[in-house]
Amino acid sequence: MTIQLNNPSTVCDAPGPKGLPILGNVLRFGNEKNILFHFIDLWREYGDVAHVKLGSQHIYVVVEPEHVHHVLVKNPNNYIKGNGYTGFRLLVGQGLVTSDGDLWRNQRRLMQPSFTPKSIVQFFDMMVETTERMLERWNPSPDLAMRGGSVLHIDAQMMRLTMSIISKAIFGVDLGVEAAEVGEAFHDAFAFVTARTMSAVALPLSLPLPAHRRFQRSLQIIDDFVGRQIASGRGQSGDTLLSILLQARDEETGERMSERQLRDEVVTLFLAGFETTARSLTWGWYLLSRNPDVQERLIAEVDAVLGGRLPSVDDLFRLSYTHRVVDETLRLYPPTALLGRQIVADDQIGDYRVQAGGIVMLVPYLTHRLPSVWPDPERFDPERFRPEIAARPKSAYIPFISGPRICLGNNFALMEMTLAFALTAQRYRLESTTEAEIGVAFRGSTCPTAPLHLTLHPLR
Ligand code: HEM
Repeated sequence: MTIQLNNPSTVCDAPGPKGLPILGNVLRFGNEKNILFHFIDLWREYGDVAHVKLGSQHIYVVVEPEHVHHVLVKNPNNYIKGNGYTGFRLLVGQGLVTSDGDLWRNQRRLMQPSFTPKSIVQFFDMMVETTERMLERWNPSPDLAMRGGSVLHIDAQMMRLTMSIISKAIFGVDLGVEAAEVGEAFHDAFAFVTARTMSAVALPLSLPLPAHRRFQRSLQIIDDFVGRQIASGRGQSGDTLLSILLQARDEETGERMSERQLRDEVVTLFLAGFETTARSLTWGWYLLSRNPDVQERLIAEVDAVLGGRLPSVDDLFRLSYTHRVVDETLRLYPPTALLGRQIVADDQIGDYRVQAGGIVMLVPYLTHRLPSVWPDPERFDPERFRPEIAARPKSAYIPFISGPRICLGNNFALMEMTLAFALTAQRYRLESTTEAEIGVAFRGSTCPTAPLHLTLHPLR
């Protein structure tokens, strides 16, 4: 299908580097290690919308909020997940993140009610308890405290915390601690499909390479575990996400999810839920440790609202500065710094034509740093999110994207992050161990290029 362009007389081809015949720009852009910065350079050189050819594949880098809004909100049916998600499908099959069309629509309708702000409140106590348990483990021995605090590897701590929380929410089992083998299998399998998706060459899985064998072993462990959980959850009522999904019926057909679909959805939820949130929390602590004035305000708010007691659900609404710290962290370091969509039919984005079969690359990392929208964009300033600040253009702030495919778990993640910052700030001040800045790389999510170590100072 070819659609009519709005105003053909003003439409032109997007600018971009010329590249070689046949190869296009593979030599420059095929190096996936710096893919995020390649796209940033492209935007600097050619502006929005920039075009680059990798072999026969047309790629359009789209950054301006108005253009992002076109892709995600105004014409989403023309921009699908398509082939870009083949690697992830090896692990999550046709779950919500990777599916398209009617399958996605039906599944979204079925799962949406379990993720409304009201529904996810049932996980509040579990999140508080799991975070508190982590903070207890951090409690340094008195002599360490005397010597100026102990040093923590924050990335590992946040990964374990979010893995514990999402696995308890889905299965009622703590895969960060109790069933560590399964947790590790999820972690390894996700790392494998991410590397495969980012790599220029994906060898057939049937080749008996050590990495392929390890992936298949992890897949087996995951499938056995999920299969057992589904079997034991059948016929029982419970308050885990799995039991809610086991009971869910399609409003129109009255049908329940098939076993395979259920497996794909819970694996999807697990993977979508733990890495993104862990990365965001790590970046948040990085920013707070480098901006002591912001950290002091956070500590002061938590002290004023909670006064040393554990939070209740109502307190969430009072922790307004904590929310702004979360929002500003997700602006500077959106875990999904890059995301692709396959173009179904020829279209026009702004004044530029884009071709069917090509890929639109959205770069939230860049959209969140546009000086036209965000004054002094590199500055960590939670006050940007004060409610009285003038409205931003639509789709200028997209850590969870916008439109029908907005993150299903956004309320869950926001509650989890707010609680993690608030409960930690109630007990500890975290200080940077070094002046050196930590770089950013995109490896399936927005990762620090070096481990983040912070010194822990107990507050009480
Ligand atoms: C800070 C944490 C998180 C961030 C920044 C985030 C971000 C995103 C983004 C950008 C997408 C869109 C991806 C795309 O369309 O290509 C997405 C989709 C999704 N996320 Fe999240 N996410 C987070 C946490 C979570 C959690 C905790 C869960 C589950 C409990 C979750 C479940 C999902 C699901 C199921 C989708 C697919 C939605 C659909 O296509 O209908 N996410 N997320």
